[in-house]
Amino acid sequence: MASNVSIVYALLSVFVVFVFSKFVNHRAQMSKLAAIPTLGSSGFLSSYLSAFRFVYHARDIIQEGYQKHYNSAFKVPLLDHWLVVVCGPKMTDEIRKATDEQLSSAEAFAEMLQTDITMGKTLRADPYQIGVILNALTKNVPARFPEVHDEMKTAFNDLIPPGEEWVKVPVLKTVLNIVCRTTNRLFVGLPLCRNEDWMDLNIFFTVNVFARASIINLFPTYLQPFVGWLITPRPASLRRAVKHLQPLFEKHFGLEGTTDDIDPASQSNNLLLWLWRQAQEGEQRTLNDLAMRVLSVNVAAIHTTSMAFTNALYYLAADPKLAEMLREEVETEVGRKGWTKNAMDGMRKLDSFLKESQRLSGTSAGTGFVPNLFFTY
Ligand code: HEM
Repeated sequence: MASNVSIVYALLSVFVVFVFSKFVNHRAQMSKLAAIPTLGSSGFLSSYLSAFRFVYHARDIIQEGYQKHYNSAFKVPLLDHWLVVVCGPKMTDEIRKATDEQLSSAEAFAEMLQTDITMGKTLRADPYQIGVILNALTKNVPARFPEVHDEMKTAFNDLIPPGEEWVKVPVLKTVLNIVCRTTNRLFVGLPLCRNEDWMDLNIFFTVNVFARASIINLFPTYLQPFVGWLITPRPASLRRAVKHLQPLFEKHFGLEGTTDDIDPASQSNNLLLWLWRQAQEGEQRTLNDLAMRVLSVNVAAIHTTSMAFTNALYYLAADPKLAEMLREEVETEVGRKGWTKNAMDGMRKLDSFLKESQRLSGTSAGTGFVPNLFFTY
């Protein structure tokens, strides 16, 4: 009985300390953001009610803020942080002129996704994987394009088999699978790109990173490393990734081969190889470090592309005339150049359509309102 009472006291003390830290944190943030009007409530407890409202009515709330504070800024309480929205060309221009020291999207993402905990510190210490995507990946797409096209075709045939009857398909779930397979055909090749466990790992690692980072962000800064250590998806996901990538790693970088004599059109010309070439000798050339970077690129690529593609499909469904016009362009380009990267580059209308559909319905409630910028506190 006595020990039960001690446990209750201990839990109560932890709870009181937690609430007190949240209160101190709230006061500090409020004084920093005092000049920015709030949409909803700024009270310590009442702001949580507004934050819950945001979960279900994000778009309406942002729209209201946009109309009330055009060419200015407003803030909205979320469950784990404050969102500051800056809207209108005047303000956007000021933001555009800000230096990286004044405003950094990389730092904002690191905090929002708690990347040091959820993906490890080495990724941010030297984020060379970004250069690999911008340079090596982009440069190698034309040579690997036939394979990517093949994977797209096969994935569509597997998941939405052609037939005479209409069938119902859950759009985002199906698109996630198609995009995961297709991007991974480029990243890691066959047969891994179709491996169920690899696809499951890469689709759900992103979801886990976002969900667990939100939980970690609920806690005061000094508790975050401890909570992070308890709930991070990193160790288990990394073990799974290493298990799958080990054979590829050994094939390229083990005793059997070198990295110099690889045919650009072969599937050995892949993300693991591009990362390896750019990595520094030592820690960065270990399978653990490379595997985490492959996971992180999947985090950046899969859900963004799937949401973009899903939104584009909805716009096509809403306006079949668009589909007619785009099909005509695709058929002309492919007729002239075949299914190549070069043909893709000639699809100007398709490019504008995708950009416009992204402008109107990006990856969050806010990105459909242009020009807007978001900051998190
Ligand atoms: C429509 C699809 C996509 C959208 C909307 C999108 C959007 C974004 C945004 C908003 C950022 C943050 C930019 C910043 O920090 O300034 C980003 C970063 C990044 N994206 Fe994309 N992306 C898409 C597809 C892809 C794909 C297909 C890849 C890989 C092949 C990719 C790889 C990356 C990488 C590596 C980063 C840097 C992440 C980091 O800071 O570690 N993205 N993307």
